[in-house]
Amino acid sequence: MSAIPISYKDTNLRTAAVIPAAGRGVRLGPGAPKALRTLGGVPILVHAVRAMAAARAVQVIVVVAPPEGTAEVRALLDAHGLPGTTDIQVVPGGEARQDSVRLGLAALPDDVDVVLVHDAARPLVPVETVEAVVDAVRAGAPAVVPALPPADTIKTVDPDTGAVTGTPRRDLLRAVQTPQGFDRATLAKAHSEVTDGVTDDASMVERLGVRVVVVPGHEEAFKVTRPLDLVLAEAVLARRRATDGY
Ligand code: C5P
Repeated sequence: MSAIPISYKDTNLRTAAVIPAAGRGVRLGPGAPKALRTLGGVPILVHAVRAMAAARAVQVIVVVAPPEGTAEVRALLDAHGLPGTTDIQVVPGGEARQDSVRLGLAALPDDVDVVLVHDAARPLVPVETVEAVVDAVRAGAPAVVPALPPADTIKTVDPDTGAVTGTPRRDLLRAVQTPQGFDRATLAKAHSEVTDGVTDDASMVERLGVRVVVVPGHEEAFKVTRPLDLVLAEAVLARRRATDGY
């Protein structure tokens, strides 16, 4: 599919962020769904919503909650006094991340033309990264991902035998973060046409043959996945609170 004409984005249409937050977070160990665990006393999801709302470009947020926890998530967001200038909706999620994102997209108002998809599990993404992604989409890129070069050498393996099957050149690899940004029509088409398992939204758009652009990611946009990530996130938050009044 070719890029949507620029004129489409020259209107007063709005930018939305869909935040999939319906995962169990099993790699973090037993306990509440990951998005509801706290960092510095505040649920991870609330940090993620604040990170999106901090970007002036983002005017609509759709949080995709665990299906059994939708009311709890709504109450949590209301209790944390999020900015009234951002329109925040909560919808129930699905089995896989891809299902949750699709359900979030279905809830978007008609006047949205640019969509960010941001993992709730990346609570500390800096506002500069969010704005860089929006700016690149508004400048005409149909799909944008923030990414960093990996620190480790990455190998491919045979999942059955565990044997190494190759070592891709590290200078060709990037670790991809969120928010990923899209022209809405492009992302909607990807979600209606690509149905097999993928772990991010950009890869669905790649399958359509659409060019995906990379902007610099940020170390602090890491995904809270394992117990050590919680320790790191607490440290980043404590530093921000001490130095930036965050
Ligand atoms: O599992 P993973 O770490 O890739 O999850 C990334 C994000 O997708 C998390 O914010 C998680 O809450 C969300 N997710 C979801 N619905 C699912 C599975 C994951 O919203 N069924």
